[in-house]
Amino acid sequence: MSTSFMDLRGVHADLGEVFAAFQYALLDQELDRAEGLLKRFRKDLLAHMRLEEEVLIPIYAEGPIQPAGKVVYFESEHRKLLEMLDGLKEGLEAARAAPKEEFHPALLAVVDASCHYTHFTEHHEMREERYLFPGLDERVGDEEERRALMAGGKPAGA
Ligand SMILES: [Fe+2]
Ligand SMILES: [Fe+2]
Repeated sequence: MSTSFMDLRGVHADLGEVFAAFQYALLDQELDRAEGLLKRFRKDLLAHMRLEEEVLIPIYAEGPIQPAGKVVYFESEHRKLLEMLDGLKEGLEAARAAPKEEFHPALLAVVDASCHYTHFTEHHEMREERYLFPGLDERVGDEEERRALMAGGKPAGA
C-alpha cells in the first residue's frame, strides 16, 4: 500500500477518540478520569503539533501555497486549540471546586466548551487534510522519505 501524508488522518482520528473518551468521562461525572484523559490528550496533541510545526510545515512552506492553506493559519489554530485546552482544564477545576448547587452549571460549561473544541478542531483538521497533507504529497514524492518524515525524521540529506 502506498504511503501518503493523508495517512496522518489516522492520527487525527486517534486524537478524536481520546477526546471523545474525555467527553464521555464528563458525561459520567467522573472528573478524575476526565482530568487524566485531558492530560493524555494534550500530550498526544502536542506531539502531533510538534511534528507538524517542526518537520512538516517547513517543507510545505517551500512550495506554492493556496490562500486558505497559509502557514499562519495552521500555527495560529494550534495556539488557539491549546488555549481552549487550558480553558477546559480550568473549567474542570472550577467544577470540582463548585458547591453542590453550582456543580451542574459548572460541569455543563465544560461540556459546552468541549463541544466548541471539537468543532474548532474539525475545522483545523479539514484545513490540514485539504491543504497541508496534499501539499506535502506534492513536494515529497519518495515513499521512504514520506514515512521517515511522518515518523518525525529529518528529510534525507538534511
Ligand atoms: Fe494541526
Ligand atoms: Fe494535524
